[in-house]
Amino acid sequence: MSTEQYVEQLLGEDADLERVHKQIREHDMPEISIAPGYGKLLTMLVRMKGAQQVLEIGALGGYSGICLARGLKDGGKLTSLELKQSYADVARSSLEAAGLGDRVDYRIGDAKESLALLVQEGRTFDFFFIDADKESYPVYLDYAIKLANPGAVITGDNALMHGKTIDPERTGPAVVAMRQFNERMLSDERLIGTLLPAYDGLAVAVVK
Ligand code: DHB
Ligand code: MG
Repeated sequence: MSTEQYVEQLLGEDADLERVHKQIREHDMPEISIAPGYGKLLTMLVRMKGAQQVLEIGALGGYSGICLARGLKDGGKLTSLELKQSYADVARSSLEAAGLGDRVDYRIGDAKESLALLVQEGRTFDFFFIDADKESYPVYLDYAIKLANPGAVITGDNALMHGKTIDPERTGPAVVAMRQFNERMLSDERLIGTLLPAYDGLAVAVVK
C-alpha cells in the first residue's frame, strides 16, 4: 500500500465523490479529478478561510466543485469556469446530486474571456482553485491576483505534472508555463506560497 492509499483508506468512502467518478467514466471524460487527499484539503482551506466567494478554473465532472462547495458556509458561492458545455452539465448534475446545486454558478467557454468579464463586472474572490489547461496557468495566476480580496488563497493542481516539471529534458510550453507558475506562487512578492509534493503537486499561496 502506498502512503497515498493509506490516507485514502483513512478518508473512507464518499458517495457523492464516487458518483462523480462513475459519471466521468460513463461520459467518457478524462479520469483526472483532483486526488482525494487534496479534495479534502480544498474543503478545509475554504472553511478555514471563511471564503464567501470561490472561483474554480476547470470544472471537469464536479469532483473539486463538490469539495470546494462543501467548505462554504451558508450564503457562500462557487463560480466555476468550464470550457465545455458537456462537462459543465455533468459537473452541475454532480453538485445537484450532492445537494450543493444552489451554491454553484457555471460559466461556459474560454476561461480567459470569462475572467476578463469577471474583472469588468468588478467581482472579487476569497479563494481560487486553478485546474485547467497547464499552458495558461501563469495567465490564470495574473487574473487570480487581480480578482483577489486581500488575504485570498490561491491553489493550483498538477504543479509537478507527473515529474515533467522537474525533468530538465522537458521544455514544452505547458511544462515551461507550470515552472513559471510554481516559481511565482512561491516567490512573487505579493504572495506567501508553497508547493505540496504529494500526489501530482498542489501549489498553495495566500495573497498578502
Ligand atoms: C492530468 C491530471 C490533471 O489533474 C489535470 O488537471 C490535467 C491532466 C493528467 O494526469 O494528465
Ligand atoms: Mg488537475
